[in-house]
Amino acid sequence: AVEDRVSALLAEMTLAELVGQLHQPANVDHDRDAELLAAGGIGSTLHASGATAGNVRDDGVSRDRVDDLQRAAIGASRLGIPLLIARDVIHGHRTVFPIPLGLAASFDEELAFAVAERAALEAAADGITWTFAPMVDLVEDARWGRVAESIGEAPLLTSRLGAAMVRGFQASRRLTACAKHYVGYGLSRGGRDYATADVGETTLRNQHLRPFRAAVEAGVGTVMAAFCDVDGIPMHSHRHLLRAVLKDEWGFDGVVVADWNGIGELVEHGVAADLRDAARQAIEAGVDVDMVSGAYSAHLAELVEEGVVERALVEDAARRVLRLKIRLGLLDPGCAALPGGGDLAGSRGLGLDRELARRAATGAIVVLKDDGVLPVRPSADDLPVLLTGAFATERAALMGTWVLDGHADDVVAVAPAVRTALAATVGSAVADRLVVDPGGFPDRSLRRAREAGTTIALVGEHSWRSGEDSAVSDIGLPPGQLEQLRALAGVAERLVVVVLAGRPLALGEVLALADAVVLAWHPGTEAGTAIADVLVGGVAAGGRLPMSLPRSSGHLPLSHAERPSGRPLPDGPRGGRYIDSPAAPVLPFGAGTSRLTYGPLRTTTAGVPVDGGTVEVSLTVTNDGADDVREPVLLMMRDEVAEVTRPLRELVDVAIVEVAAGASAEVRFALPTTAFGYHGRDHTFRVDPGRVVLTAGWGRPEASSVPITLT
Ligand code: IFM
Repeated sequence: AVEDRVSALLAEMTLAELVGQLHQPANVDHDRDAELLAAGGIGSTLHASGATAGNVRDDGVSRDRVDDLQRAAIGASRLGIPLLIARDVIHGHRTVFPIPLGLAASFDEELAFAVAERAALEAAADGITWTFAPMVDLVEDARWGRVAESIGEAPLLTSRLGAAMVRGFQASRRLTACAKHYVGYGLSRGGRDYATADVGETTLRNQHLRPFRAAVEAGVGTVMAAFCDVDGIPMHSHRHLLRAVLKDEWGFDGVVVADWNGIGELVEHGVAADLRDAARQAIEAGVDVDMVSGAYSAHLAELVEEGVVERALVEDAARRVLRLKIRLGLLDPGCAALPGGGDLAGSRGLGLDRELARRAATGAIVVLKDDGVLPVRPSADDLPVLLTGAFATERAALMGTWVLDGHADDVVAVAPAVRTALAATVGSAVADRLVVDPGGFPDRSLRRAREAGTTIALVGEHSWRSGEDSAVSDIGLPPGQLEQLRALAGVAERLVVVVLAGRPLALGEVLALADAVVLAWHPGTEAGTAIADVLVGGVAAGGRLPMSLPRSSGHLPLSHAERPSGRPLPDGPRGGRYIDSPAAPVLPFGAGTSRLTYGPLRTTTAGVPVDGGTVEVSLTVTNDGADDVREPVLLMMRDEVAEVTRPLRELVDVAIVEVAAGASAEVRFALPTTAFGYHGRDHTFRVDPGRVVLTAGWGRPEASSVPITLT
């Protein structure tokens, strides 16, 4: 029925109207663009202004403004087709959740779904119908500012959480998600934004394409092309990857959207002579919607009329946009996203979802080290607790990159939350003695640290230091912070360091200086509460590193999923040695303290038929602590002999376990043999007979492995 409705519309449309569905300007202005709106010349609109900056702010989206635009589009145009209202709703709308890399640290699909579902509900209530999320680029270089928006370095984790976010965003059927940036953007050379990426098709298929395929299988409505070129071909003109792989091979029937001026930039890339040539290349490659460049609205009709571009290509692109609008209900009377439409499940005037924001922010926290100092619970006779560093009272900086509609005023700062938690756990007499020193005078902080029983130092990056176009060449803490920590460590009785950051920073020396190190990322609206839950409340942080923690800038790029070289060294990761430093990361992917002890990994299925078999492994985990625990248990694999080199270790499954204090739990994994498959030399997917080694607790002292034979 959807296809019939689309066909009926297409049959009525002029070429100009078809092209109009493919043109997406920034910030449609009601008066300025009245003529274009009336002509059906605007298919969708983007509200985010200045969207190329790393940490975007604009004047906010309002339902009234959106309603005005929709009224103009419906009322003034011949066919009355509403707009898609697009916005970067990346990690929350009014309620701000942790940055995606933080959410990734939870390894929790259920949480990822819930967060995306809530963000979509809030955004849809404002009339937004399209978000440019999730970003499913695999990342290896923490210098790149956009790692904050990623789900980390593991194909399986990014695929699973990315797909969960797609399902969450689209659960209400009022908003469509966008898997971006297709593909290879996470390999931008030197960690610099927009730079080139060089990657072969085997690696693309075995790693970087996997999360996009998972998003397509989860029903994602749109996919965004990447700014980079891959092996010399800019993605906005990459016919093989966009049309042959994504659309034809995978059967993606949604919309491919350009990134901001991505079609125009084909000229800067040096593959298009001018904007007209860029428009031709992009539509032929399979880019359906032109974000901002204006290439399609200026040239597509004339290219068709002159016989340079086939009309069928334009029709196919418009069909995809109309299909999406119909699936979103935008052409149905009474649609909640349109003026006068019903209230979306009572969502207008929604308050903040503080409970989910707190759960997500706590789930994101990774305790990198704890030498028995957490939770901080001084008695009334103890020396005071000192909370020092600019982040103690800061709020905006804790929201993270890409926050368009969150309000800093809604954010719970760390200092008041720690004071409240101390009052609740050890009483107001202790809480009253909390000393808050937001910095400014390092010598004063030192003096206060000397007088304190526990010093909690908050360090890290402002959210402005991460996100788009925010690469750094030095992966250490921002200037001055390490020096201050060294000085504090010299005088403090106990030093707890909390790191707020959009990327895994080189924290080797911090780990050596401090008694406990807590990585909280940029946690969002409930930042302070979540941090206080872990520092004082005794909440067992279950987060694990979704990206390896680098030793220095010189160790990047870095990934646990390195492939073996011909000369492997135990020190890894690439089998090549550095003369001046160990090659291994400070902490690997998956690291984070755990309150569980792991028993040995067992299997009853040592030999499993390749076709249709199931591999079953299990282990017992025990919670010896005093608090209940919810945390991920990771299962890694190594395929020892294959047609192409396979990663030395690769995440193959995750189980989220809940274990009550003092209890044990059985963790069972059941994997279809396709979980061990890969794309071989001819790029087709295959599962080979042979040995695969599975490991639980990788990186922990009690790690254990079992070999499985596929027959
Ligand atoms: O969604 C973003 C994309 O990730 C980077 N460039 C701008 C787009 C729209 O704001």
